[in-house]
Amino acid sequence: MCGERRFEGKVAIVTGGGSGIGRAIALRFAREGASVVIFDLAKDRAEGVAGEVRAHGGISLAIVGDVTKIEDIESMVGAAMKEFGRIDILVNNAGGGEVQPFLDIKEEDWDRIVDLNLKSVFLCTQRVVREMIKHGIKGKIVNISSYAGKCPVLGEPHYSAAKAGVIALTQALAKELAECGINVNAVCPGWTDTPGLRRWGRIQLERFPGSARDVDDLFEKIVREHRIPLGRMGKPEDVAGVVAFLASSDADYMTGQAINVTGGLEMR
Ligand SMILES: NC(=O)c1ccc[n+]([C@@H]2O[C@H](COP(=O)([O-])OP(=O)(O)OC[C@H]3O[C@@H](n4cnc5c(N)ncnc54)[C@H](O)[C@@H]3O)[C@@H](O)[C@H]2O)c1
Repeated sequence: MCGERRFEGKVAIVTGGGSGIGRAIALRFAREGASVVIFDLAKDRAEGVAGEVRAHGGISLAIVGDVTKIEDIESMVGAAMKEFGRIDILVNNAGGGEVQPFLDIKEEDWDRIVDLNLKSVFLCTQRVVREMIKHGIKGKIVNISSYAGKCPVLGEPHYSAAKAGVIALTQALAKELAECGINVNAVCPGWTDTPGLRRWGRIQLERFPGSARDVDDLFEKIVREHRIPLGRMGKPEDVAGVVAFLASSDADYMTGQAINVTGGLEMR
């Protein structure tokens, strides 16, 4: 593992670190010297990414659990503290949407999406911040919101509302935790080519057969039709670089921000 090593001696937790954007963040932290806890619902994915980190000479712990369940979060934090004795960085990345027109959304759909994308940020952050304060750590929290949290995407009202909530929660916690020396920021990715978005693409093709030849063709159409200024989809590594910046001492004077990583699609 070579290059800049801003996280030597630091411990980072990445929720949903087993795939897509979370995986890229975990690998980036590890490349820069952090020990990385990968907390994911899927055992094979969590262990796969922890294995990738170790294969490159890094230190990683895979923990299987659900970000919406306090008992899973408790045992994850307990295991991280037992293994490393500190937590410096938390990235609340686990999340995802579901295309459902407003009138089709049932109460349980609403609860599932809002719990996964917003309540999880509350639960994980509260538990980790308690640990940071107890050990006098000047920590960094980075929440993965979305372009949809600023400019709602058609057909996903619960997801858009939850991601807007993540931005508001980020700002509220930035104010409240500033006196503890803990910075809280958000990143709002745009269209990013991940296994999760490819799954969404396949569902779109089933719902609208003939709308594109395949997922690659659909992604090219998205870039054209949305007129993404930088002319391409995002890569998970594009998001990971900005998360690493916000988690580093380079961003010590930043808190309460929601940074777009959208190729210029969103500018506010
Ligand atoms: N891909 C995009 O275009 C895009 C755009 C904007 C925002 N985002 C956000 O970025 C984040 C990551 O998205 P992605 O596209 O990399 O997703 P992904 O589906 O590729 O990966 C998500 C990971 O989270 C894990 N996960 C899901 N539910 C979980 C739970 N309850 N507890 C623990 N782990 C869980 C999954 O097992 C998976 O490994 C999400 O919050 C998503 O809303 C993605």
